[in-house]
Parts: sequence; C-alpha cells; structure tokens
Amino acid sequence: MTPPAPARPAVLVAPSAINGLGVFAAAAFSAGGIILPLDDSRVVDAQHPVPPGEEHHCDYLEAGRVVWMPSPECYINHSCDPNTFVRTTAGVRYVIALRPIAAAEEITYDYCINSSGDVVWQCHCGAARCRRAIHSDFFHLPLDLQREYLPLLDHWFRKERASDLARLEATLAAHPPQY
Ligand SMILES: C[S@@+](CC[C@H](N)C(=O)[O-])C[C@H]1O[C@@H](n2cnc3c(N)ncnc32)[C@H](O)[C@@H]1O
Ligand SMILES: [Zn+2]
Repeated sequence: MTPPAPARPAVLVAPSAINGLGVFAAAAFSAGGIILPLDDSRVVDAQHPVPPGEEHHCDYLEAGRVVWMPSPECYINHSCDPNTFVRTTAGVRYVIALRPIAAAEEITYDYCINSSGDVVWQCHCGAARCRRAIHSDFFHLPLDLQREYLPLLDHWFRKERASDLARLEATLAAHPPQY
C-alpha cells in the first residue's frame, strides 16, 4: 500500500547551486519515503497553452501529454546523481526518496528517467558522475546507467517504450555487469 503523502509538502523553494531556484528538503526523509505528490492537472493543449517563458516548467508524460508544473515541483532540478525518482501510483505521480535525504539537501531527479526525445543540453549538477552533455532519451544513457535505472522506470514509460525496453533487457542479459 502507498504510504500517505505529507499533508503539506515538506520542501522549500530556494536558490540552487545547480540552476536558478531549486527544491530543498525541509525535513529528513528515509529511502522510499514520499517527498511530494505531483499536481499534473494543468494540461497544456491548444486551449491552454503554456505561458511564454514557462516552457522549462513543463513535463512530458504518456501519449504526448504535457503538463505545466506548479510550484514547488516546477523547481526540481536535474542531477546525474539524483536522490529521488518519480513513480505513478493509483494515477498520481509521487517524488520518492532513492536514499536517505537530510534536511536542507536539494531534491533532484534524473530528467532522463521516463524521458524520450532528441534534445541535448549541458548539465551543471556538479555530481562526480555528471554526464555533462545530456541527451533527453532514456535509451541514450550509458548501458550501466540504463541497468541501474531500469527498476525506477514508471509503468507508462515501460508500456510506451516496450520494444526499446525488450531490446535493452536482451542487451543487458548478454552483457552482465562488470565488477
Ligand atoms: C523544471 S526547471 C527546474 C527549475 C529551475 N532551476 C528554475 O529556476 O526554474 C528545469 C530547467 O532548469 C534548468 N536545470 C535543471 N537542472 C539543471 C542542471 N542539472 N544543469 C543545468 N540546468 C538545469 C534547465 O534550464 C531546465 O530547463
Ligand atoms: Zn550532471
């Protein structure tokens, strides 16, 4: 069963060393803890275009659905060594801690998880394992990272990219991890 989400998001929005504003833990979280539910109600379509200058606060979901994220989630920055991931449960997407998170730590996820497209951008996350030039498509990640992130993929993405996923699983089976 999904643990109840906090009544009010236990996060703060503040300037980030990664980019612009970021989202920070207002309390400590355990691994697997829900940090906040995402509000995906602001669907962008012909009748409801995204306001100019707000394009970077959009998220790209199943079947081409685009949502204009509200605060605080619109301020979650990308990291190549993220401390959260996003998973849908009973129709609601939740930001979930990947590992214990201390109060005041910046909340990040890897934008390439559940992501398609052909956009390349420069990352300034500062992580030791920063990939620097980020290609938006999950299946462009280094193979070992695809292996690591595989359990984190959301159900809709697994369904939408089923044939790529099957190809990846066959490749991973043929190339066991090197320790
Ligand atoms: C969802 S917003 C995140 C909030 C953003 N910092 C702000 O103040 O509005 C996504 C945008 O933040 C920037 N961004 C997020 N993570 C980044 C990173 N690791 N490196 C460089 N820019 C990043 C990019 O411009 C991206 O389009
Ligand atoms: Zn990075």
